[in-house]
Amino acid sequence: MAEATCDIGLIGLAVMGQNLVLNMNDHGFKVCVFNRTTSKVDEFLADEAKGTQIEGAHSLEELCSKLKTPRRVMIMVKAGDVVDKTIESLLPYLEKGDIVIDGGNSLFTDSNRRTKELAEKGLHYIGTGVSGGEEGARFGPSIMPGGDPAAWPAVKPIFQAIAAKVEDGTPCCDWVGEGGAGHYVKMVHNGIEYGDMQLIGEAYQLLKDGLGLTADEFEAVFAEWNKGELDSYLIEISTTIFGKKDDDGQPIIDKILDTAGQKGTGKWTAIDALDNGMPVTLIGESVFARCLSALKDERVVASKVLHGPKQEKIPAEHKAEFIEEVRRALYCSKMVSYAQGYMLLRSAEKVQGWTLNMGGVALMWRGGCIIRSAFLGDIKKAFDKDEKLTNLLLDDFFSGALNKYQASWRKALIHAIELGVPTPAFSTALAFYDGYRTERLPANLLQAQRDFFGAHTYERLDKPRGEFFHTNWTGRGGRVSSTTYNA
Ligand code: 6PG
Repeated sequence: MAEATCDIGLIGLAVMGQNLVLNMNDHGFKVCVFNRTTSKVDEFLADEAKGTQIEGAHSLEELCSKLKTPRRVMIMVKAGDVVDKTIESLLPYLEKGDIVIDGGNSLFTDSNRRTKELAEKGLHYIGTGVSGGEEGARFGPSIMPGGDPAAWPAVKPIFQAIAAKVEDGTPCCDWVGEGGAGHYVKMVHNGIEYGDMQLIGEAYQLLKDGLGLTADEFEAVFAEWNKGELDSYLIEISTTIFGKKDDDGQPIIDKILDTAGQKGTGKWTAIDALDNGMPVTLIGESVFARCLSALKDERVVASKVLHGPKQEKIPAEHKAEFIEEVRRALYCSKMVSYAQGYMLLRSAEKVQGWTLNMGGVALMWRGGCIIRSAFLGDIKKAFDKDEKLTNLLLDDFFSGALNKYQASWRKALIHAIELGVPTPAFSTALAFYDGYRTERLPANLLQAQRDFFGAHTYERLDKPRGEFFHTNWTGRGGRVSSTTYNA
């Protein structure tokens, strides 16, 4: 048997796996790698890993025999059944106290289950979000680990060494919580990622259709935006995208088919929001916007049948003003989106029994991940001021910015409606903002209607909460009311 000298094993040499291994190696950890198609192990060792201390294994047995105990085995395979199958095949070679880490985009309920199942076998499970794509994995991702807290001390030094660091050197990786908490936070991260990307897309289309900006002009506008409140990775890469030319010298962006793909994490966030009764509307709209974009053929037909307003461009003398309105609309909508994401995290604490460190989550997202931005530093500050903050929009910094910019946000949307440009995320953000700040919503009428047709009862403004009343609206109904359960 080989000598057990490796600090960690990694299974799955796809893009993320390979880059995490190289990153761990850079930080002095000795990694042993395994891939189901074993030729990939040899290719990796001969190529990307050449000259490093990385070792290879051609079977799970060999992999486990090369690991120091307690063994740390990280799985980087496609989320779903493959993870269960991989864990199953590993079991014969693991001993009590060993640690299995799943670093894919797994569904948090699977991670809840796997933590429990492995604990019953005396093994420790960590389900961790890893964000930042190829480059992040290689040079510093954001890492969001959850699972069995007993495993954290053994994994912490590796994860915090390879993670991205914020300006003061703090790693973008800390313990998130038990069971599926890490994957839950990663899921919400991805939902917010969908929201950010949709908002940027809407700003792009509004400026394109409203002003006829060219890709080069977009590059300049986005470069400018990236210097201020919108400073973020997604604005930065969009700037680069606008500047990229195809072989014929034309901007590539203008040649890309407008149908968006998705792997499901945004949808999971929206489903979970519905399950928890949380109005996470912007992520929901962002998922639906991708679905609508995918109906390209139908849209081509509809574009010739259904009329919009007569497309007037924004007058040239208002160009700078309009660009600024759109920037503010994007910033305000982004604040709403993150506030909604944090509302979902708050509700998950109650439903799942987790205690999530909200400022810590902002810090983990501050660097390394796809949604990294200066703005997350402001969110961190808000939770540092008040860790119990119910809603981000109520923090002085955010309410101040919204109060200052809301008029411009509305103007941008009025232009969008007049131009016939679809802005589902901008619009739902404003609808949420107006709903959230409205003391009296029309739900009184809705409750009256429910009571009218189904005797569902209602509460009254002039009576204590929790007392339910029924009115015999027509004089024909009985006196029996329906139960008051709520979904
Ligand atoms: C990350 C990303 C990543 C995600 C891709 C694709 O944090 O690095 O969120 O995990 O899988 O961005 O997501 P979609 O295919 O659903 O857009």
